[in-house]
Amino acid sequence: WMFIGGGTLLFFLIVLGIGAFIQGAQPPSCLTVIDPQRVEAHDPFKEENLGLQEVEGGDLDYVVNVVASAFNYDFGKDEEGNVVRKIRIPAGSKVMFQGTTKDVVHGFQVAGTNANMMLEPGYINQVEVTLDNPGVYTIVCNEYCGTGHQFMTAQVEVY
Ligand code: CUA
Repeated sequence: WMFIGGGTLLFFLIVLGIGAFIQGAQPPSCLTVIDPQRVEAHDPFKEENLGLQEVEGGDLDYVVNVVASAFNYDFGKDEEGNVVRKIRIPAGSKVMFQGTTKDVVHGFQVAGTNANMMLEPGYINQVEVTLDNPGVYTIVCNEYCGTGHQFMTAQVEVY
């Protein structure tokens, strides 16, 4: 029985190790302390910095800034002044999603990818993924946030 117990433990540790180190499933980081230079470079709270931003000097390297509120994801506006509902990113891009919320806790999950984090008032959370597979992905809120929770969605298109 000791070997079965020990073997089970070893099996779970191996599964955990594969998920963490090979598949890259990481818990989202919570930036309670923010590097001031980084904030200046991509201050996510400035209207003009919301949405998709190309990282200077990077190749297919992007930051997506989002501010959630009940029941919407704010990615800013496009050049024509229309509200952005869909983020378009080239396949193979490395994308850092970083976001916060104006009111209550919201979720931010790009369904079908490893991008999954909470958005919490007063904190900036971030998660980095590489988007290799073209397609349209739905961003869903997976934290119950009120009566419109089920309508809180947006989209990412990888082309
Ligand atoms: Cu926002 Cu649920």
